[in-house]
Order: sequence, then C-alpha cells, then structure tokens
Amino acid sequence: LEIVKTIYEISQLEPMELSQVALAGRSNVGKSSLVNCLGGRKKLAKISSTPGKTRSLNYFLVHPDEFYLVDLPGYGYAKCSKAERAKWGQLIERYMTNNPWLKAVAVLLDSRLSPQKLDIEMTSYLKHMGIPVIPVLTKGDKIKQRERAAIQRQWRDLLQYDYMPLVVSSKTGMNRDKLWEILAQSANG
Ligand code: GTP
Ligand code: MG
Repeated sequence: LEIVKTIYEISQLEPMELSQVALAGRSNVGKSSLVNCLGGRKKLAKISSTPGKTRSLNYFLVHPDEFYLVDLPGYGYAKCSKAERAKWGQLIERYMTNNPWLKAVAVLLDSRLSPQKLDIEMTSYLKHMGIPVIPVLTKGDKIKQRERAAIQRQWRDLLQYDYMPLVVSSKTGMNRDKLWEILAQSANG
C-alpha cells in the first residue's frame, strides 16, 4: 500500500483511471487505522483520538492487485463548522458521482453501536446511487462476541443482506486477510 495522491478541494479532483474502493464512515470510527492495519504499517495514514483528523481524500495504491483504496474524511464531526461540513459533503458527493472507477464503498461502522442515523443515511445514499456497500464493523476488540453478533444482525437486516457484515479490529488484526479478499474482489469483480 502506498499513498499516491491527496486531495483537499473539489478543484483538485481528476479522474484516477484505476478501480477504486473507498473507505467511508463517521469521524473517529477507525478508517485511517484500518488503512494502516491493511498496509501493515503504522504511519501510512494519520490517525488521531480527536475526531476530524482526516480532512482530505487520500488515494492508496494497492499492489499487486492494482486498485486504489481511498481514505475519505469522516462525516458527522459535530465540532466542525457548518461551512466545513458542507465542503466535506460536496467533495464526497463529487467524488462519488460520475465516477465509473468507484466499484464499492466500504462503510465503516462502530461494532459497539446500533445503526446510527448518519450511517443509515450514508448506506441509503450509496444504494440510491447504485454503488455497492461493503459494511465493515470496526473496533471488534472492544466488544464481547455476543453483543457484537446482535449488532451484526441489525446491520444485516437493515441492509437486507443475506450474510453478516465482517467485524474487524485494527488493533488485533482480526479479519484483516478476509477484508483484503473482499476489497480486492469488489475492486476487480
Ligand atoms: P477521522 O479521520 O477523524 O474521520 O477518523 P478515522 O475514522 O480515520 O479514525 P482513526 O483511524 O483516526 O481512529 C480513531 C481512534 O480510534 C484512534 O484513537 C484509534 O487508535 C482508535 N481505533 C481505531 N481502530 C481501532 C481498533 O480496531 N481498536 C481499538 N481499540 N481502537 C481503534
Ligand atoms: Mg482518518
């Protein structure tokens, strides 16, 4: 995994002509940590315990499958200004619309929480756009298996999938290989 491009503004967006899978999710859910976990390196993507760390769109090139993993800024960060939130929305929307290279969006969801409004809105929006959603439950090390299974079922039912969303942990590496498999399959399938 290597970073190849960072984008802060809509004006910087240009077609990146290679299949892409994006990582979306609420601020602080663990998107950047997951990039580092997948890449097997600690400082590929900047992480922070303060929400709102990632303000840019970051393209990581995956070898040898040759696709981009795109780390998106988190949504729902209450402390940022209305103007900033609007800017985020526009950047993400512009990235997601008319992008034939975007094959799927992995929506990262906190494995400890029942489906939250913003997450439901995000998955519905993607569905409406015809972009496949890969639900991924994060921070799996922080919750007991039984409670986790209940949250998994809630998401499965809400998304009307016939399988359970994958639970991962960037801390322990839980299901890292399985997630790679799903991402690569989505990018190339
Ligand atoms: P934004 O860039 O603000 O959108 O956040 P993000 O989704 O990129 O989250 P980030 O990866 O920066 O992680 C947020 C916090 O959660 C950090 O303190 C991480 O150490 C912690 N964290 C992320 N993944 C895990 C995990 O699997 N287990 C545990 N225990 N903590 C995690
Ligand atoms: Mg981040």
